[in-house]
Amino acid sequence: MQSSPLTVAIDGPSGSGKSSVSKAVARELGVGYLDTGAMYRALAWHCLEAGLDLTDQDAVAEAARDLPLEMPTDPDDQSLAVGGTDITSAIREPRVTEQVSAVATNLDVRAELRRRQREIIGAQREASGGIVAEGRDITTVVAPDAEHRILITASEEARLARRSTELHGGADAQQVAATRDQVVRRDQQDSTVSAFMEAADGVVTLDTSDLTFEEVVAAVLALVQGEVTPRHEADAPHTPDIDAP
Ligand code: DC
Repeated sequence: MQSSPLTVAIDGPSGSGKSSVSKAVARELGVGYLDTGAMYRALAWHCLEAGLDLTDQDAVAEAARDLPLEMPTDPDDQSLAVGGTDITSAIREPRVTEQVSAVATNLDVRAELRRRQREIIGAQREASGGIVAEGRDITTVVAPDAEHRILITASEEARLARRSTELHGGADAQQVAATRDQVVRRDQQDSTVSAFMEAADGVVTLDTSDLTFEEVVAAVLALVQGEVTPRHEADAPHTPDIDAP
């Protein structure tokens, strides 16, 4: 538990690695973790299950307001349920990934999910002393007053290669081509409602194109270290090695 409440806001495009990094940082700091993209995915899944037309703005916005979503904040247990149904794996299925932007670009949906996100962040600050929240508009709109705001970027080439390896187990020309829609087209569509390719004023940019996962986690921890004590220090006389800039 942190001595004073801490929010680490992290944004970035698809394939930047921000989800795994944010989870690892939350674990290291002993605070909560919020994957806001999973909330948009849960709503998209729910609307698809209900047979809603995702371009019907009003119907989808109403579904957002009524969504019985139980959001996890434990970095080690990201099980997600809607109305008691576990949809942890279902929200990662291609049909959801391909269509989630239609839901995420609905401005009434964004207003409702942002309201819920702020509520979760506030509750976690009380409960565990803090939270690492990640998405596309956390540094700018959801938590612009977070103690730390970071934009995690990487070159398009690096992002395509990472996502391709995740999805297809490799990054040869064919595998990368099959991944392009999920990364480039989706980011273009999502960029129409949030600015996550360039850092806003006061947001630190971390270009991870040439960094390993461990180096990125260490760099984020180094940024927040000035104000917090990593959990390891509190638990045992062991300080993690943080040698990145
Ligand atoms: O990060 P992800 O792929 O799980 O995000 C799912 C979708 O939600 C993606 O289309 C971007 C969108 N999103 C958003 O618009 N705002 C956020 N804060 C998080 C995600």
